[in-house]
Amino acid sequence: MSANTIEHNRNRYNFAGVESVWLFGYGSLIYKVDFPFLEQRPASIRGWERRFWQGSHDHRGTPEQPGRVVTLIEKPGAVCKGMAFRVSPNVFEHLDVREKNGYLRLSTTLTFDDGSHAEGLVYIATEDNEAFLGHAPEADIARQIAAASGPSGPNAEYLLRLADSLRALGADCPHTFALEAHLRSADSGDS
Ligand code: SIN
Repeated sequence: MSANTIEHNRNRYNFAGVESVWLFGYGSLIYKVDFPFLEQRPASIRGWERRFWQGSHDHRGTPEQPGRVVTLIEKPGAVCKGMAFRVSPNVFEHLDVREKNGYLRLSTTLTFDDGSHAEGLVYIATEDNEAFLGHAPEADIARQIAAASGPSGPNAEYLLRLADSLRALGADCPHTFALEAHLRSADSGDS
């Protein structure tokens, strides 16, 4: 599948007659809220885990030196915590452009902190997209992140802001926190 998913996402759902949609954010959508929303609630989804396995050529890297950003990888029993936003369907015109580098809008069941549920959408960059980079040792991923920068800023900022946001949410994400530790120890000259 081509890395540019704009057309793909536009043709995916018919929002006719729909007033609002829950969107689950687990990466930059948690901390870079550049879209209007009607309501915001911490939430989680089941069966997926957060991984810095998606290449970023357009936001946090360049085609010559791609950065790494998060996507979700299927894992039975896993719980991924993030932030849910209830948005008007026209918000997806903006978000489909922002998330165009490989992310598809998929349906998911959200669980809010009070145990209630709602159906919603989540942007996931699946393994068959051209920008997918996949698994690598965490020290290598951290080095790649430290070296990359793109139109939205340094890749390191993406990682550090996400780690801070996850802590604020009380989310345990050993992968993100391990990458953060690698990045900080490289900064302080420990490695
Ligand atoms: C998300 O935040 O939900 C998607 C990935 C990203 O934009 O970082």
